[in-house]
Amino acid sequence: MNILVLGNGGRENALAWKISQSDKVNKLYVAPGNAGTSQVAQNIAISITDFPAIKQFVLDNSIDMIVVGPEEPLVKGIYDFFKQDPQISKIPVIGPSKYGAKLEGSKDFAKKFMVRHRIPTARYKSFTLDQLDEAYSFLEELNAPYVLKADGLAAGKGVLIINDLNEAKSELKIMLSGMFGDASKTVVIEEFLSGIECSVFILTDGDSYKILPVAKDYKRIGDGDTGLNTGGMGAVSPVSFADEAFMKKVEERIIIPTIEGLKKDNIDYKGFIFIGLINVDGEPMVIEYNVRLGDPETEVIMLRIKSDILDLLQGVATNSLDSKKISIDNRYAVTVMLVSGGYPENYEKNKEISGLNEITDSLVFHAGTKSENDKILTNGGRVVAVSSYGNTKDEALAVSYKNAGKILFDKKYFRKDIGFDLK
Ligand code: AMP
Ligand code: GLY
Repeated sequence: MNILVLGNGGRENALAWKISQSDKVNKLYVAPGNAGTSQVAQNIAISITDFPAIKQFVLDNSIDMIVVGPEEPLVKGIYDFFKQDPQISKIPVIGPSKYGAKLEGSKDFAKKFMVRHRIPTARYKSFTLDQLDEAYSFLEELNAPYVLKADGLAAGKGVLIINDLNEAKSELKIMLSGMFGDASKTVVIEEFLSGIECSVFILTDGDSYKILPVAKDYKRIGDGDTGLNTGGMGAVSPVSFADEAFMKKVEERIIIPTIEGLKKDNIDYKGFIFIGLINVDGEPMVIEYNVRLGDPETEVIMLRIKSDILDLLQGVATNSLDSKKISIDNRYAVTVMLVSGGYPENYEKNKEISGLNEITDSLVFHAGTKSENDKILTNGGRVVAVSSYGNTKDEALAVSYKNAGKILFDKKYFRKDIGFDLK
């Protein structure tokens, strides 16, 4: 098969690495890709939201399947664009329809879905600017801290957690008045849940599903989960508290109702579902849905899937996922993200990266890199993810940290405590 992966981050490098190992793959392309994806696939310079250009490439290169990494093309309707065009309608796009992608694209849509299908989640109400008084009353009913969420996509910045009621009211008003443009014209206010989070991933053909390895990511820039939010500083899989008993609850109360809910609501969904969960005293509650894999979780999950991923994706495309088996590596996989100093605020790019060729016992997935004149240069805040196996979490982390020290670039920074809160 000829496969096209869309995206240019560590997630897409890990996906392309895994797909490249399949016996079924003939040509593998990544658009637009990065210096890491070019080592396992051919990069092509096409924008992930230029659907007509993607269509032309697919036709010219006999592409058999498109695997979408980030949410943006899905929210913009790439699945429907293909499905509705007779020239390309038979070419599977792994991901939900535009309507299904609202599970990530609209928090209000996702909350309504969860309530309709009795999926455990925080109590909430949604408001627009003309309902400010009702919104204030709802805030008064809740206890601090107050959780305010812009309904739409806001580049990961749309959630505010505020301790003081008056501050919550004033921030709410600013949000509704356009703090995040159209994305915050509707705001979801919800009850604060206290617990530890994890990411559960499922692959579905719309009928049956496979549960992929559970992971936990570390979003804050500083050790001890302090400082600003980032695109992800590291990840660990498996997650100690997501044991058999917990996962049984997750499957019965969340995964099965989610798949059944998609069917009942006639939502066309063939792809990955990322369920952001919080463990509240042993009870799983849904924080959010994403309609794609997570980053940097993919940089550990792909290490733990032993099965041929293309075989699973073919199962999704042909509605036969039920007949496929998924086998998981019992070892730990961890990843540590090396970032540019200053990230997630201002940082410099175009720093030469050295030491990459010395790494033999980790996988180095590129998040923000480019090649120029035989050199590999930094090209983003998050630069490379150093992923390793181990029989224990600490064994795996020791390998990633050893190799994190060997990869050099000016102002390199990484967290030293990935996995600190897990057994
Ligand atoms: P979201 O974009 O919905 O994932 O929210 C971003 C982050 O805010 C989550 O990863 C949580 O850490 C936190 N968060 C969101 N909703 C809640 C909630 N109801 N209670 C506590 N923390 C939350
Ligand atoms: N790791 C969280 C995300 O991909 O959104």
